[in-house]
Amino acid sequence: MALIGKNILKAKVLLEAGELVAIPTETVYGLAGNALNVEAITKIFKVKNRPSFDPLIVHVPDFASALSLVDSIPAKAKLLADQFWPGPLTLLLNRRSVIPDLVTSGLPTVGIRCPDHPITIELLKCLTFPLAAPSANPFGYISPTQALHVNDQLGEKIKYILDGDTCKVGLESTIIGFDNEYPTIYRLGGLSVEKIESVIGKVTIQLHSASNPKAPGQLLSHYAPTKKLILGNLQELLQTYGTKEVGVLSFRGIKEDVTLMNQRILSPTGDLEKAAQQLFTFLRELDQLDIQLIVAEEVPDSGLGRAINDRLRRAAASITNG
Ligand code: TXA
Ligand code: MG
Repeated sequence: MALIGKNILKAKVLLEAGELVAIPTETVYGLAGNALNVEAITKIFKVKNRPSFDPLIVHVPDFASALSLVDSIPAKAKLLADQFWPGPLTLLLNRRSVIPDLVTSGLPTVGIRCPDHPITIELLKCLTFPLAAPSANPFGYISPTQALHVNDQLGEKIKYILDGDTCKVGLESTIIGFDNEYPTIYRLGGLSVEKIESVIGKVTIQLHSASNPKAPGQLLSHYAPTKKLILGNLQELLQTYGTKEVGVLSFRGIKEDVTLMNQRILSPTGDLEKAAQQLFTFLRELDQLDIQLIVAEEVPDSGLGRAINDRLRRAAASITNG
C-alpha cells in the first residue's frame, strides 16, 4: 500500500530525493520522477515494467518552462500551446541535451505537455526540474483515472500517491509532432482532431506502424483489460455468446437480458466527453467481475469518440493477438 494524500510538500520532498510519486492530471494519473535525473527515470521504467524503447512525456507548469528544454518551436506548435495548454496535448519537439537520452529512448524529439490539474501545476511550480511521467499503470494495461486505481496496481512499488480525485478528461493526451512544420497526430487522445484542426488546419493522422512504432501507445495491443473483450454489435454479440457470464459496455442503452450488475453505460445521454471520462473506470470494473467475456460497442466516430474507439479497438486486439 502506498500512502494516498493531498500533501504537495510531501510529494516535492520525495521527488527532490529522486523518488517516484504518482500525480493526478486531467487525462490520467502519471508515475512521476525528476526528468533530469537518470536514476529516477530508470526507476520509472522498472516500476512500470516498461521497455526502454518507449519514451516518456515530460511535464512542465507552463509554456515558458518548455523553452529551456527544446531547441526551437515550430509556429504551429506554438499556436497549439497558446490555445490548449494547460491541457491534454503533448507536443513532440526537438530536445536540448539537458533531457537525458533515457527519457526519449534516444529520439531527437521529446514529448512535452502542461497538464491541466491545479494540484500538479502547483507541484510543478515549486520544483526546479520538470517531471517525466508515463501513465501510472503496468505497461500494456488500462491507464488509471483515480488514485485507488494506481494503488491497486503499483501501490507496493511506490511511496506516495498525490490524490487529485477522478481525472476529468479520462483519456491520455493527444500526441502531435511536426516534421518540417507538417503536423502529424501519432496518438488520438483527450484533445479532439477537430479542435486541433480549427487552430492549425488539416493534420495527418498516423496511428499504426507495424514495427518500431514512433509511439508505442500506437501498438495495437495496448490499453487492455485481462478479460477477453469483443467489439461489435451488442445485440448480435449477445446472441452469439449468450447473456450469462458476460459483461456489457454500451454507449447509451441497457440490454434487458443481462443482469444490471454486469452492465456499464458510458453515457445515457450520448455525451462523448462523459463517455471518455468513464471509459477506463468501467473497463476496470468489468475486468474485475466474475464473467468470462466483455462485449462492447463503438461510439460515434467524431470528437472524443475517435479516441474512445481507438482505445476500444486496441483493448479488443490485444486479446486476439494473445
Ligand atoms: O495524458 C498523458 O499523456 C499521460 C499523462 C500522465 O500525462 N501520460 C501518458 O504517458 O500517457 P505514456 O508514457 O503512458 O504514453 C506516452 C506515449 C508513449 O506511447 C510514447 O511512446 C509516446 O508518448 N512518446 C513519448 N515521447 C515520444 C517521442 N519523443 N516521440 C514519439 N513518441 C513519444
Ligand atoms: Mg500509457
